[in-house]
Amino acid sequence: MKPRIFITRILDEQVVKPLQERFDVRMWESTDVKVPREVLLEEVAEADALWCVTADSIDSEVFAAAPKLKIVANMAVGYNNIDLEAAKERGVIVTNTPGVLTETTADLAFGLLLATARRMMEAENDVRTGNWTSWAPMGYTGMDVGGATLGIVGMGRIGEAVARRAKGFNMRVLYHNRSRKMDAEVEHGFEYVELDTLLKEVDFVLILTPYTPETVGLIGERELGLMKKTAVLINVARGGIVDEVALYNALQAGDIWAAGLDVFETEPVPLDHPLLTLPNVTVLPHIGSASVKARLGMMTLNAQAITAVLEGREPENRVV
Ligand code: GLV
Repeated sequence: MKPRIFITRILDEQVVKPLQERFDVRMWESTDVKVPREVLLEEVAEADALWCVTADSIDSEVFAAAPKLKIVANMAVGYNNIDLEAAKERGVIVTNTPGVLTETTADLAFGLLLATARRMMEAENDVRTGNWTSWAPMGYTGMDVGGATLGIVGMGRIGEAVARRAKGFNMRVLYHNRSRKMDAEVEHGFEYVELDTLLKEVDFVLILTPYTPETVGLIGERELGLMKKTAVLINVARGGIVDEVALYNALQAGDIWAAGLDVFETEPVPLDHPLLTLPNVTVLPHIGSASVKARLGMMTLNAQAITAVLEGREPENRVV
């Protein structure tokens, strides 16, 4: 019997086809609707490999329902949706997709920063809804990006790629990270500072840290209170890193100037979420890595890892 793979979304045929020739591949029927929990639990019962996306919660219940499972390949660089302890206990390998989405996500982060600073979505919406009445001397005025100071919280590969873009905009770049990036400091002039110093000094705070127990609510009321009233917060990492209630209050009270969010505590963000009522919030539907090349690259890494494990080889990009 061929080893079985369960894929929680319809993925690109050119990546899946080679797997179908060698393995018994089963796939959830949708590209954009999450696999129902009961289907996931039923499918993993017979699966040797699980290929999932960031919207799927692969917790201890899933691992307990999957006695044959050898690998979980996550189509994301972040893996907070997977219970790594449960994976380790059961000897299941977990892999992710770093590298191939670095520049793509950096583009989106910088684009969201520009769009938020210059109120682009709000302005576009006025054009489309007939509210563009005339050129107005102070209409749609925002914050300058060129020459401003950027603070990056979480200086990994994506952070460095954003910081390189920022240099092209003549920005000063401060960063905070668990470890210093000496090479990048010397090569590009990025400056390491403590988190509080970063929050106080910069015009743009960009959240790029992984979502871990240590970073849940990392940016809350106290931290937002340290930021300049003219500052902009950009989050392209994970929703729970920023306390959404505190963020709403800070934006509403004018304690910070604006926020650009690609990620939310609950995704899709509920339509009645208070943050969506604020004009100084720019929102996107978790599209950091959404370029054709990056997404196909991510799928290819997942397919290679699954193939390796099912053929008894050590996969690349192993998380545990
Ligand atoms: C997307 O959010 C990722 O972690 O790749």
